[in-house]
Amino acid sequence: MASLTIRKLDEAVKAYLRLRSAGNGRSVEEEVRVILGDLIQGRPETPGPPQTPSPAEAAPRHRGPVPASGSSRVTLIIGGGIAAYKALDLIRRLKERHVRVRCVLTAAAQKFVTPLAASALSNERCYTDLFDPGSEFDAGHIRLARECDLIVVAPATADLMAKMAQGHADDLATAILLAADKPILLAPAMNPLMWNNPATRRNVAQLARDGVATIGPNAGEMAEAGEAGVGRMAEPTQIATAAEQILKPAKPQPLKGKHVLITAGPTHEPIDPVRYIANRSSGKQGFAIAAAAQAAGAAVTLISGPVDLDDPAGVDVRHVESAREMLAQVEAALPADIAVFAAAVADWRVASEGAQKLKKTGAGIPPLQLTENPDILATISKLRETRPPLVIGFAAETEHLIDNATAKFARKGCDWIVANDVSPATGVMGGDRNTVHLLTRGRDGGVDVDSWPVMTKEQVAAALIDRIASHIKSSPA
Ligand SMILES: Cc1cc2nc3c(=O)[nH]c(=O)nc-3n(C[C@H](O)[C@H](O)[C@H](O)COP(=O)(O)O)c2cc1C
Repeated sequence: MASLTIRKLDEAVKAYLRLRSAGNGRSVEEEVRVILGDLIQGRPETPGPPQTPSPAEAAPRHRGPVPASGSSRVTLIIGGGIAAYKALDLIRRLKERHVRVRCVLTAAAQKFVTPLAASALSNERCYTDLFDPGSEFDAGHIRLARECDLIVVAPATADLMAKMAQGHADDLATAILLAADKPILLAPAMNPLMWNNPATRRNVAQLARDGVATIGPNAGEMAEAGEAGVGRMAEPTQIATAAEQILKPAKPQPLKGKHVLITAGPTHEPIDPVRYIANRSSGKQGFAIAAAAQAAGAAVTLISGPVDLDDPAGVDVRHVESAREMLAQVEAALPADIAVFAAAVADWRVASEGAQKLKKTGAGIPPLQLTENPDILATISKLRETRPPLVIGFAAETEHLIDNATAKFARKGCDWIVANDVSPATGVMGGDRNTVHLLTRGRDGGVDVDSWPVMTKEQVAAALIDRIASHIKSSPA
């Protein structure tokens, strides 16, 4: 009761009685909670006497422009990672988008940034303590979880994700996350070894299954000298854009409850430790399909070869190099309801990869003996128990497009084929547009070909996801 005076209680009761006589349909408990919440937030009906602020409260609550009523609200949980400083910029990026931000700092986060900085930038009180009598008189952790439209965790440490995956609630941040009934967006940030640790992989997969969205991490240099890899927190603008997407009014989610597995990009097949065989696939089409499936409500696992693209928000992305690694990750990601194999997987690899860099010698050019790679599309299409009910392959051809795609259709045993002409003149490989033909099985057992106009890869992705959604709707459960 430290910050609640008798006078404020009196005001709360009067305000409650006024609201009840106005009859706005809320329960008594809800009304009292709202009124008391407003009072403690510094929005009293009549201003109360000044109170001594705790350090976390020291910044003025409503300095600068007050967000327009009806603007979105984000509870931003800042975890204890080196990227915590970027969370301060994220506050500004969200506010630029007219999002009201309330910050919660973990104990570890306070070793990197101060509550005062978060409070000053958000123009809101910053919260740090689960057992703070000033906010817990009315279950502050529940209010922080509920009085927002989205909870963003940035940086999401390995530790916070582990606690979330296990349902811990031993500090303010984890208690809010466990009590949340709002969407959650994580921006993981950690050393690549922590990110790739099997324990973190399990936690990330569990959180994706629990419907938690993630953005990043990106690949790049680490804070630790000389270390690089996947683990850098997504940039504040990326996180703000992902948050904005989630905050948009809900669109229909025809793939809600479905697990969609997608492969994308090229594969790199090693010749020796420094050289590899590759192709020109950019991964853009597969990534666009993953984003469209996620937007349609699906839980999406994207298995990508080496690409220069940011991971789509809310998608469980697994990065691989070779065809064999891609197949292993695909098998590990099963079961799935829908599988879309958009990756341009190398057909061959070098039979015996050099353990050391191959050297020029007087003996002439070294022979490169090729051997066949696993056929991921055919392997998954021929599974018995774990075959996804809808398996879609891609056929990238440079000549006789429909004939070659039809032959591939028969050979692979998949349900649909998306055929596209990737001859250099089309600019499809690496470009932003695509012209595709969807091959499905006709009622008479023949092949139906549906040719789509030239579209951006995002439009192709949206059209394919629409088609998948109609198919699912019309298929018996
Ligand atoms: C200098 C330093 C940098 C750290 N950076 C990270 C990081 O980027 N990601 C991470 O998951 N943990 C990082 N840690 C470890 C976390 O701070 C530690 O796991 C802590 O318990 C996390 O607490 P929280 O999850 O409650 O915020 C770092 C620790 C130190 C000392």
